[in-house]
This record gives sequence, C-alpha cells and structure tokens, in this order.
Amino acid sequence: SHYSQAKFRISAPDISHLGEDKGIEVAFAGRSNAGKSSALNTLTRQKSLARTSKTPGRTQLINVFELDENRRLIDLPGYGYAKVPMAVKEKWQKSLGEYLQKRESLKGIIVLMDIRHPFKDSDQDLIHWAVNAQIPVLALLTKADKLKSGNRKNQLLKVREAALAFCGDVTVDVFSSLTNIGLENLQIKLDSWFGY
Ligand code: GTP
Ligand code: MG
Repeated sequence: SHYSQAKFRISAPDISHLGEDKGIEVAFAGRSNAGKSSALNTLTRQKSLARTSKTPGRTQLINVFELDENRRLIDLPGYGYAKVPMAVKEKWQKSLGEYLQKRESLKGIIVLMDIRHPFKDSDQDLIHWAVNAQIPVLALLTKADKLKSGNRKNQLLKVREAALAFCGDVTVDVFSSLTNIGLENLQIKLDSWFGY
C-alpha cells in the first residue's frame, strides 16, 4: 500500500522547522499513551518507524513521515499527561496548538482514544475544534483488543452517540495495533483525504 512507503523526514520542536506548508498532511492526535505512534507503525507496516513507549509522553516533537513529495503523516505529541515538568509540557503543548491552528496543509485528523477511557474533555475539545475549523476527523477507539467483542460494540455505540450529540458529524471506529481491527477502514479514510 501507499503507506508502507512512509519515510521519516524530521522531528520538529515547532512549526517553523516543519518545512514548506504545501501538499496534504494528516495528523495523528490524542492523549498521551493512546496509541498514536503504534497506529502509525501498524499503518505503515514498519515496526519502529514511530517511537512507541509504555511511558506516556514519549512523543514530544512533531514527527513528520513522508509518503511522497506532497503527502505526509504526522505523529503529534500527546496531550493530557501531567507527569512531565511544566516547562517541557508548556513548550510541547504550545507547538501542538500552533500546529493545529496554523498548518494550512493539515487536511485531516485522526483522533485516537483508548477504548477503555474514551472521549475525555480534552478529546472533545479537539474534535469540537476540528469540526468547527472544517477539518475532517476520524475518531479511533484504540487498543480494541483489550475488550471482549460485546463490550467493544457497546463502547463504540456509546462513543458514537456522544460524538453525535457533542461534536456533530464525526466518524468513530475501533482500532487495534495488535489485531489490525479497523486498519482497513483507516486506510479507506486516509485514501480519500490524500486523494489516492
Ligand atoms: P505518546 O507518544 O506518549 O503520546 O503515546 P502514543 O499515543 O504514541 O502511544 P504509543 O503508540 O507509544 O503506545 C502506548 C502504549 O500502548 C505502548 O505500550 C503500546 O505498546 C500500547 N499499545 C498501543 N496500541 C495498542 C493496541 O492496539 N493494543 C494494545 N494492547 N496495546 C497497544
Ligand atoms: Mg507517540
């Protein structure tokens, strides 16, 4: 697939280091430890393209993976993690906010949420903001392998209802980097955003 072509391009401390703001970027966003970097590795079929960790707060820079000259996947720092020094946190949350608000080539956001703790205030804020900014969103309930099929379906229905009520028209799906559930739907959505 197109996504296995992804190559690491740069880790940027802020948007001034990102390179030219042209073409199409899709960003993976979500709370710390939600599984953003793991999902990128699953999508690209490259085990260690994006750095993953048991310790929340692993991704502190804006990581750019290039598919081709005009298409990029972005691994964003997580939000909502308290256990880092305030100065560090402020810096990276600032670059995250700047990226979301200023990057013209941002054409879609994958919002990842742990299926066991979905739709926290910070997730709602992000999804709400994206819908208002008219940036398409796909919300993924990650680590779906952690729940039995019945619970998984219940949780998906609950989050879909809540998203409809609070944020309007966003697609919500389940995902697992272990079982690849949801991978096909993720690719279909990305294909449409990237114009493949
Ligand atoms: P930050 O960069 O810290 O914001 O985290 P992240 O959102 O990039 O999460 P990361 O991909 O590093 O994963 C965090 C932890 O969750 C790691 O221990 C992963 O192995 C685990 N994990 C990620 N995806 C899955 C999944 O689908 N299933 C299971 N069981 N564990 C997962
Ligand atoms: Mg990460």
